[in-house]
Amino acid sequence: MSEQHTTLIRPQDQTGAERATAVAHPNIALIKYWGKSDERLFLPRTDSLSMTLDIFPTTTHVRLDAQAGHDAVTLNGVPATGEALRRIVTFLDLVRDRAGSLQRAVVDTENTVPTGAGLASSASGFAALATAAAAAYGLDLDATALSRLARRGSGSASRSIFGGFAMWHAGRTTGTATDADLSSYAEPVPTAELDPALVIAVVNAGPKDVSSRTAMRRTVDTSPLYEPWAASSRDDLADMQVALKRGDLEAVGEIAERNALGMHATMLAARPAVRYLSPATLTVLDSVLQLRRDGIPAYATMDAGPNVKVLCRRADADRVAGVVRSAAARVSVHIAGPGPGARLLCGVGR
Ligand code: DP6
Repeated sequence: MSEQHTTLIRPQDQTGAERATAVAHPNIALIKYWGKSDERLFLPRTDSLSMTLDIFPTTTHVRLDAQAGHDAVTLNGVPATGEALRRIVTFLDLVRDRAGSLQRAVVDTENTVPTGAGLASSASGFAALATAAAAAYGLDLDATALSRLARRGSGSASRSIFGGFAMWHAGRTTGTATDADLSSYAEPVPTAELDPALVIAVVNAGPKDVSSRTAMRRTVDTSPLYEPWAASSRDDLADMQVALKRGDLEAVGEIAERNALGMHATMLAARPAVRYLSPATLTVLDSVLQLRRDGIPAYATMDAGPNVKVLCRRADADRVAGVVRSAAARVSVHIAGPGPGARLLCGVGR
């Protein structure tokens, strides 16, 4: 991890700009983050645990512009507007505040994952932005501090700072806001040899109707199933840590699947209900059950969208992908393994 936290201190370039480029990958939670205890600080109700992927990277360039009166942001070459822009400017304000800077930034982000489709684009997006912006504004942050910072853009981004499996601590909810903020970060999780793959079945790459932020708020506020799920998720996390340490992929998959189905149950019981799962999602879930009946360990997890991620052994991934692909019409399938943490590609800090 060391190279990604080294901001190269060089003289400013000829335009006086400080700039940095960072890359980060999405992560898929095996123990879900669903519900905040503090919306401003992005403090989650429960701990969560994920695998960072080796596909769908986000690359973000940040350049400070002393002349500009506002931040300029493009996402895949298109100027950001509305909520997407507001989230990024709010995040840059936080970085500026810490750096004691008033300079505006030019941010260019290239996402290779469909945005807003429950495929964790905000996790890779804010992990890359946190890494690049911290360097461009001259903040010298270690991985833990970067994880805390990325959390303030999107909770799940805290985990994409790390490669492989990462656990995000909810943090202390008693004590001061500073205590809670400082104690909520992700860190790598020790695992035995596992050789896992996640087969990602994209049944719909379009943006979702209800954002995960709105959906999780409504679930916490109105779902009678929320508190029981949060309590069982704490047990799931403990079981998951044991299964990872043992390298027991079947147990890892079983726990991940029950945790995800439970999370979707909380949403279905929200008022009004939030339903991300589509008929095609259920068809893919049936194919996962069939794989298990045929002796292939394969387990499903779904996020804030209809797409299904199937955990299996790397050696079974092609077969799993083939079965899932033929399960429903118009499913596109991607195979991911454990990927690297966020890293700085180049940077000129202050
Ligand atoms: C279902 O991190 O996108 O993917 O913190 O409001 O930006 P905000 O939410 P976000 O939520 C992710 C929810 C999830 C589960 C998970 O990744 O743990």
